[in-house]
Amino acid sequence: MTTQADKTLTMIREVCALGRVEFDRPHTAEGDPAAGRALGQGLQAIDPGGELSDISLSLDLLAPRAPYFDQLVLNAIAAGTRQVVNLGAGYDDRALRFRHSGVLFFDLDLPDITADKARRLEALDTDTTHLTLAAVDFATADVADVLARAGHDAQQSTLFIGEHLVLFLEPLDVARLLAGVSGRAVTGSILAITAEVHPAGLDSALVVSTVDEMMFAGASPLHTIQSRDAWLTLFKENGWHVDNADDVTAVNHFELPMADQIAQIQTQFLTATTA
Ligand SMILES: C[S@@+](CC[C@H](N)C(=O)[O-])C[C@H]1O[C@@H](n2cnc3c(N)ncnc32)[C@H](O)[C@@H]1O
Repeated sequence: MTTQADKTLTMIREVCALGRVEFDRPHTAEGDPAAGRALGQGLQAIDPGGELSDISLSLDLLAPRAPYFDQLVLNAIAAGTRQVVNLGAGYDDRALRFRHSGVLFFDLDLPDITADKARRLEALDTDTTHLTLAAVDFATADVADVLARAGHDAQQSTLFIGEHLVLFLEPLDVARLLAGVSGRAVTGSILAITAEVHPAGLDSALVVSTVDEMMFAGASPLHTIQSRDAWLTLFKENGWHVDNADDVTAVNHFELPMADQIAQIQTQFLTATTA
């Protein structure tokens, strides 16, 4: 059964893909940005009420994210990293846009999204031999097993990215995910994610339940919002070290009316190396 929360997640996934098409983005010499743009053809980003969403409203939020993750992929390739694992890849086109000889891409997402992406890739006239799609539900699966089965080499350094993923997972599943990828990360590997951050001092469970009640009428797909310190601790406890922890790179996501204050929820960009 498709829930309201599923419908909202579908819309957000498609907004991300359609939004990025609006930006002028880099690509590698062997990359195929036209195929990347075509990958999202026909997506509509329908909201749970059945209306087309207005992508332009999300562009400010998406604008800093795309170059941040694009640059990480370019930097990793330049540094000789030969594996890019995209966690919750959705319709992200980076595997096509940043194709580079010798670099393998692994796009992980829920089974129905992976299947749809496979159909879309097949319909494109572009080389996808360097890309492996792997179906996974991070709420139940062990990401380390999934990566091993997909052909990921745990002895080679890897760039792991998770753009706008972990807020849709429960906190315990985020911890398992961080630990799972840490187990596949040799020295030199990098993990970069977006994390939803609330001001220090607030109760995270209350923030999440307030989002659910005020913004989604009890059907929120958003499950993990924490203080920055809690995020840094979570990384540390699960094998990752956030470099330059005092430098905050972020974009304001939304304001949340709490009991006695308006809480600014930010999307922060956290990049870590193996601890
Ligand atoms: C907002 S979308 C972002 C997609 C992509 N990273 C991007 O920026 O375009 C979040 C993605 O996480 C995936 N996702 C959410 N929960 C998941 C889970 N439990 N297991 C696997 N993937 C999940 C969704 O299917 C979706 O494609």
